Amino acid sequence: MQITIIHALIGMLASTTMLATSAQADMFTEADLKRWNDEFMAVVNKGEKVFHGGFRSKNTVSCDQCHPNATNIHPETYPKFQQQLGKVAVLGEMINWCIMNPLESEPLALDDPDMVALQAYIHYERRGVKLEPGKH
Ligand code: HEC
Repeated sequence: MQITIIHALIGMLASTTMLATSAQADMFTEADLKRWNDEFMAVVNKGEKVFHGGFRSKNTVSCDQCHPNATNIHPETYPKFQQQLGKVAVLGEMINWCIMNPLESEPLALDDPDMVALQAYIHYERRGVKLEPGKH
């Protein structure tokens, strides 16, 4: 009887140690956090450039001509029904609508680095604003 309890205890200890080890494998350091943040901010900064004339549109129109500093864009309301698209859309699809219509250019793949950068910049400009998917 006692031996069974000891075995059970040893088993529990062993699995606790294993849990601790696997949790450690998921941990990250201050250096990791800094690197990730630096990479994120580099993409935000690239997006700012693409937004302010860096997107080589066929007609030379740029996003900031209609959306100064991305301030009248509401990324926190996506996904939402967009009249222009006639369906519930994600932010990238609406960016592509502007690329195809006002900018008269080819749409980007949703994972195109310029698309990712534009979204990072647009979201970053509205950081802290409460999420309101579907809102008009
Ligand atoms: C000639 C003016 C014009 C230009 C240039 C333009 N847009 Fe737009 N954009 C609009 C209009 C008009 C709408 C539709 C407004 C609406 O329905 O909310 C819109 C809507 C959007 C929306 C959705 C906004 C919301 O609140 O739901 C996003 C995102 C967007 N544009 C991004 C861009 C990006 C990125 C660029 C550059 C690649 C760009 N736009 C260039 C006129 C423009």
